[in-house]
Amino acid sequence: MNAELCWLPFFGEALPQGRDPLAVAREEMALGMASLAGASCRLACVPGGGDGFEIIKDEQGYLVRGGETGVLYGTYRLLTALQAGECPLTAWTDPAFPLRMLNHWDNMDGTVERGYAGQSLFYKNGKFDYDADRIRFYGRMLASVGVNAVSINNVNVHAPADKLVTAELLPEVKKIADLLRPFGVRLIIAVDYALPVTMGLDTADPLDQRVQDFWKKQCDEVYAYVPDLCGFLVKADSEYRPGPYKYGRDHAQGANMLARALKPHGGMLIWRCFVYNCRQDWRDHTTDRPKAAYDNYAHLDGQFDENVILQIKNGPYDFQVREPVSPLFYAMERTEKAIEFQLAQEYTGHQIDLYYMPPIWKDILADLRRMPRHICAVTNLGDDANWTGHPLAQANLYTYGRMAWEGKALDGDKEAERWIALTFGRDFPEKDRLKAMLAASQGIYEKYTSPLGLCWMVKPHLHYGPDPEGYEFSLWGTFHRANHQAVGIDRTDKGTGFADQYPADMAAVYKNTDTCPEKLLLFFHRLRYDFKMRDGRTLLQRIYDDHFEGAEGAEQLLAQWRAMEGLMPRDIYENALNRFEKQALNAREWRDIINTYFYRFTGIPDAHGRKIYD
Ligand code: GCU
Repeated sequence: MNAELCWLPFFGEALPQGRDPLAVAREEMALGMASLAGASCRLACVPGGGDGFEIIKDEQGYLVRGGETGVLYGTYRLLTALQAGECPLTAWTDPAFPLRMLNHWDNMDGTVERGYAGQSLFYKNGKFDYDADRIRFYGRMLASVGVNAVSINNVNVHAPADKLVTAELLPEVKKIADLLRPFGVRLIIAVDYALPVTMGLDTADPLDQRVQDFWKKQCDEVYAYVPDLCGFLVKADSEYRPGPYKYGRDHAQGANMLARALKPHGGMLIWRCFVYNCRQDWRDHTTDRPKAAYDNYAHLDGQFDENVILQIKNGPYDFQVREPVSPLFYAMERTEKAIEFQLAQEYTGHQIDLYYMPPIWKDILADLRRMPRHICAVTNLGDDANWTGHPLAQANLYTYGRMAWEGKALDGDKEAERWIALTFGRDFPEKDRLKAMLAASQGIYEKYTSPLGLCWMVKPHLHYGPDPEGYEFSLWGTFHRANHQAVGIDRTDKGTGFADQYPADMAAVYKNTDTCPEKLLLFFHRLRYDFKMRDGRTLLQRIYDDHFEGAEGAEQLLAQWRAMEGLMPRDIYENALNRFEKQALNAREWRDIINTYFYRFTGIPDAHGRKIYD
């Protein structure tokens, strides 16, 4: 196995083989401590202590006390803190979220939907095909940051993955579960709502007794192989996936049917709320896609069984560079919810462009007011030797796990500092420069792509690079309606009414152009190009400035990276260098195409005389 880069390099090549978290913790402690000469440590398991742990010090050295999985989390905490040069002592700590999930969008042919780090970790050519040590190493990485549940297949369930819940493939699923269980990681399977039909019934109607019996039997089978399966994940009635709407049933009826089949086994049913009309006519100004999740679900509050979790994307659109928080989070008080983030950089640079996520997570969590009880992220992983394609994209996986454990926005700089110390060494000479690059990256990317929450100026399907009208006349409900005078969609009560899905005080802030955060101005408002921004610039000039500055920022990232030459293994340096070069070109392309797009409408040149092509 060649794990080219990871935040746990001090373990070297050795991997734990233990069958449960306590055994793994013992092995990891021995392996990790070997590189920390002088320190000594004991472990104590506290039955019933679950994921929690504490680290104390007495005359014999460090003592990690923790629950059945907590003892492993405590072990990694101790080892990483010592490696990073931090004080490891901590009073009893429990994770904020019981479920800290990752979703793979892996297909069994080996491809990864929206994957930018190679092929699947689990499958090739329609079969399970993996390196068991690599899966163990993956388990170690997840446990080291506290992630405890992973779905192993794409939410768009393509055959043969629909059979993962059948005797045909369950023996293989069991092997993955057995590999990850010692790291405290449980499996989730994404299921196809139409499976009963594929398997010979004439319906998948959730109220049909035969369908209910089918799923009960299927769950009995699944749990016979994987008794601790976390549950099922479902994308239904979304982007052409089958679902209960076909049978005239709502999503509470659809979800509860599966939840009841899982219930006797202690399983959870995780139901995604990414439901919208994906055949919208651009001529229609009344349908507004961001309203869809709320419209489909809010009225169902209180109707979901207790083992149902609604998984809601962080924004109402689709992982765009800048969106408000989904209004569904402020509704449905009586429903269990998970917030879904996307580590895979689908709209944020394909793991070519540098995009460190904690700053945007901080904005999102600040607006959330109350955290949902669960958290999830689409992974950015693949079979590339360095796991994430861009070596620095690993920092997003690391900080996601940390955020999921803490249950709150973290100081991105502090997390970056720790990640750099662990990955490149405590004495890495350019740590401040690297930290500054990570900190600046999200803002830089936002500046050179779609302006001020406008969304969808990206190349269709590919989602990398600019195409201002690529989605303008499509069926996806993704419009900005730019013309010679104005741009954006009025989502206030005078327009589509989207803003009124928020609590009244938030809606009032968003509806008023004087109070709406500038970053989101073009999400909520249709504005003329001469609209005055708060600093006196026109909207048009602000768009020009952002794009010039963003492209300049990308050039600077490239120059900064060059200062890292010789400070790390050559292949890691060059891998990233190549990406920074591509990013600079991408940013230049965005700058020129977006600026020219608006210049052609307005005929107004840049106030500072910079080059805008005609
Ligand atoms: C986006 C993405 C799809 C994905 C979908 C989802 O639309 O482009 O590839 O399937 O999100 O979250 O289900």
